[in-house]
Amino acid sequence: MAVERTFSILKPDATRRNLTGKINAKLEESGLRIVAQRRVQLTRTQAEGFYAVHKARPFFNDLCAFMISGPVVLQVLEGENAVAKYRDVMGATNPANAAPGTIRKEFAESIEANSVHGSDSLDNAAQEIAYFFSQCEIVG
Ligand code: CMP
Repeated sequence: MAVERTFSILKPDATRRNLTGKINAKLEESGLRIVAQRRVQLTRTQAEGFYAVHKARPFFNDLCAFMISGPVVLQVLEGENAVAKYRDVMGATNPANAAPGTIRKEFAESIEANSVHGSDSLDNAAQEIAYFFSQCEIVG
């Protein structure tokens, strides 16, 4: 297995309920390392650009509105097999289908307010990281 980097967002439902520490504890317990982290208020342009791949989906406008409804925490996570590992730790997109012990099972409110985003492939991870972070902000 190779050491990888993946991209993570702690979403507005997580910051609103003051859950960022609990979520970080869970991902650190899994062996992932937070090598970059920044709390920001996204603009609509940033949210639409980030989720451009979902532009044609019926939930696109609501998703972007939700993602700018409060602060988010942007992260780069590093570890063995980080992309797949973080997806395991997050659980299924819809918390109703998420396995016990996963972040979304424990914390998510709905399929939209599902507390965390994580990259779905190594290629997308590299693109998503570059969308928000410069090389010098990532300290492994
Ligand atoms: P995320 O991993 O951030 O990627 C796209 C997001 O769209 C997803 O998590 C969900 O929070 C959100 N979303 C809202 N409605 C749906 C839906 N019906 N199907 C899939 N994703 C949805």
